[in-house]
Amino acid sequence: MRVTVADIRRMKEKGERFAALTAYDVVTARLVDAAGIPVILVGDSLGMVVLGYDSTIPVTLDAMIHHTQAVVRGSQRALIVADLPFMTYHKSAEQALDSAGRCIQEAGAQAVKLEGGQPVVETIARLTSAGIPVMGHLGLTPQSIHQLGGYKAQGKTEAQARALIADANAVAEAGAFSIVLECVPSELSRLITERLPIPTIGIGAGPHCDAEIQVVSDILGWFSDFVPKHARQYAKLSEAAAEAIRAYTDDVRAGRFPTDKESVSLPADVLREIERAFPAGA
Ligand code: KIV
Repeated sequence: MRVTVADIRRMKEKGERFAALTAYDVVTARLVDAAGIPVILVGDSLGMVVLGYDSTIPVTLDAMIHHTQAVVRGSQRALIVADLPFMTYHKSAEQALDSAGRCIQEAGAQAVKLEGGQPVVETIARLTSAGIPVMGHLGLTPQSIHQLGGYKAQGKTEAQARALIADANAVAEAGAFSIVLECVPSELSRLITERLPIPTIGIGAGPHCDAEIQVVSDILGWFSDFVPKHARQYAKLSEAAAEAIRAYTDDVRAGRFPTDKESVSLPADVLREIERAFPAGA
């Protein structure tokens, strides 16, 4: 039985903090699910950490569905949230219903996430009234990177902080079951967390949110050249993988791999017959 959005809301009521992670494939989903993490986000960070784009903007709905299906197959317990990509929910509530409907029906997610405050509250209300749970996303919203002018903290001026609080209230009132706060000052996310009835899920938002989410590649150290300020590397998988690839290459070049141990053999009588039928140098 999977975690439900009601379970997530109850965790806030009981003051139970939780960790959430992104995943994009079956192997990672299995690991995250086995760790008992209650929420897995198939984030559109997919575009940057798996597909090699320099932003989330090129990610398509088809790509999200493809990867969400893999994560659903790899998990049994976690609530799976699929990100709605850029321009798949902005045009109208109908467009959002079509996009979110595919994530639920075709991909098997149990909820969707979308970015933005007051301009998307009508859409959030339409989706939730159609039975599609919505996770909000405020602060640094990467799909608006061209508007924001860079990946930088949001809500640092009084006006921005006031706007963010108003957005958080509006998103909660529209029916979202939780809100991601990305790159927001700690004091502001504490204030929002204390005032909202739904869980806040921080990333670069300090220690006071009800939950924390990280991009799985960041905490596993899949990239050695860049670690976001808000991430902590719990492993250095890129170094371990590079070392393994080097060792494999050296072994093949030196004739140490494969050996008999990694090979299958012909039965001796079959080998004899074959060698007789096909003499060397014939
Ligand atoms: O796409 C993503 O991975 C996200 C998280 C950073 C919250 O939106």
